[in-house]
Amino acid sequence: MTQQNQSPVLVVDFGAQYAQLIARRVREAHLYSEVVPHTATAAEIKAKNPAALILSGGPSSVYADNAPKLDPEILELGLPVFGICYGFQAMTDALGGTVAETGNREYGRTQIQVAGGVLHNGLTQTHQVWMSHGDAVTAAPEGFEVTASSEGAPVAAFENVEKHMAGVQYHPEVLHSPHGQEVLSRFLTQIAGLKPTWTAANIAEQLIEQVREQVGETGRAICGLSGGVDSAVAAALVQRAIGDRLTCVFVDHGLLRAGEREQVEQDFVAATGAKLITVDERAAFLSKLSGVTEPEAKRKAIGAEFIRSFERAVAQAMEGQQVDFLVQGTLYPDVVESGGGSGTANIKSHHNVGGLPDDVEFKLVEPLRLLFKDEVRAVGRELGLPDVIVSRQPFPGPGLGIRIIGEVTEDRLETLRAADQIAREELTTAGLDEQIWQCPVVLLADVRSVGVQGDQRTYGHPIVLRPVTSEDAMTADWVRIPYETLEKISTRITNEVAEVNRVVLDVTSKPPGTIEWE
Ligand code: XMP
Repeated sequence: MTQQNQSPVLVVDFGAQYAQLIARRVREAHLYSEVVPHTATAAEIKAKNPAALILSGGPSSVYADNAPKLDPEILELGLPVFGICYGFQAMTDALGGTVAETGNREYGRTQIQVAGGVLHNGLTQTHQVWMSHGDAVTAAPEGFEVTASSEGAPVAAFENVEKHMAGVQYHPEVLHSPHGQEVLSRFLTQIAGLKPTWTAANIAEQLIEQVREQVGETGRAICGLSGGVDSAVAAALVQRAIGDRLTCVFVDHGLLRAGEREQVEQDFVAATGAKLITVDERAAFLSKLSGVTEPEAKRKAIGAEFIRSFERAVAQAMEGQQVDFLVQGTLYPDVVESGGGSGTANIKSHHNVGGLPDDVEFKLVEPLRLLFKDEVRAVGRELGLPDVIVSRQPFPGPGLGIRIIGEVTEDRLETLRAADQIAREELTTAGLDEQIWQCPVVLLADVRSVGVQGDQRTYGHPIVLRPVTSEDAMTADWVRIPYETLEKISTRITNEVAEVNRVVLDVTSKPPGTIEWE
């Protein structure tokens, strides 16, 4: 079974931010999934030979003029179908039920009353779900059993087991619907009749095989390692597939955290046996960053210099030999997001997404392009990568460069590195790593505040702790770190890091704040 011939559960994206999350939840239920735009025709959908369809939520009213329509032929393909929120209403409309503006909107936590059915059978009779709708289904299509209702949604769920179709008004994919994953799983296994076989062990095997096929018997490849999870797992997979015909390249741009270079040079190489070239480009980056304070200007300067130093390193790695393939750790969310989904504003330019110059002549090897982050981690573990690499928190390509508010200098990098190391040590000691998605530590280099230490007046810089929980970095909340841990971090940083006399905690969710400060 490979990804190419495994029938996907297709998530039809009606334009809300939830389609990707639904696709992930399907993977968590151990079935392969892909996202397709709502403009996909019945023929295009059929060509993908899907195992089932899930119609996602979306922002529109089904009766609005510009509402994304569901091609009714899609429902005649004989596939199992699950409608969620807008998808539930679109499905109702297409199958002859009634959607009406009841004037009884529901947003957020809502209670539903369960009346039975396969999806909700045995779950608490009244339970919490996450709703977000104006219109509501007032009559289910003929042949469908109504299995739940809420105050604002007389038909909050329905199913027709014989036709392998069902739907819910609420969002089962979000954590605020505590039984949501169970309901989704029941659709997939009991109503659609699918067997959950998508697991890390067989994903790794399949991917190695695919890389072998793509690169062939003699092809050579290079891979830039960033110290992050994705490039490490991609490189490890390709190394398994083609051995020494892969050369890994690591650019030390000086914007790394303490210990990161060693992690790549020692731990990664020890675990994989990969051939690695490290280039020390710290001076070049610092000189390009001199005098630069504006966040996007910093990103551009770092991105441009990165490409140049990477090219120099590649020339060195190639040693006059032909290298045809460039390995990249692109993940499925990048693929979906760059695949066009309309209306996504470019909030920050992420230099490592699509940042290669136009004249690059390599063919891309992207073994992770259909995986989500948690799957990448599982594959990494499967390949024997150490936990320090696999469980690593996301770290931005421009590194500490965008965590120093103000000009980046060597001294400031040293200050931030020391504070960051202390925060990381204490969070790990407190056992909080699992709970925290990432914790940027930020140096407000352009701000000073007055303090007192040992009878001396100080005039130092604040350090900001920005611990967040998140599922995909699109939204985030701040982590309620225990006071004792905060106290330890604060005491250690102010005692051990010269120049820092204040530690503050960022208690802003995303939105409105982004995760990084720049
Ligand atoms: P924001 O700050 O936009 O961050 O909420 C979302 C996620 O993206 C990471 N990030 C970056 N990653 N290059 C990267 O590779 C960048 O320029 C960049 N900016 C932010 C950030 O750490 C978080 O995980």
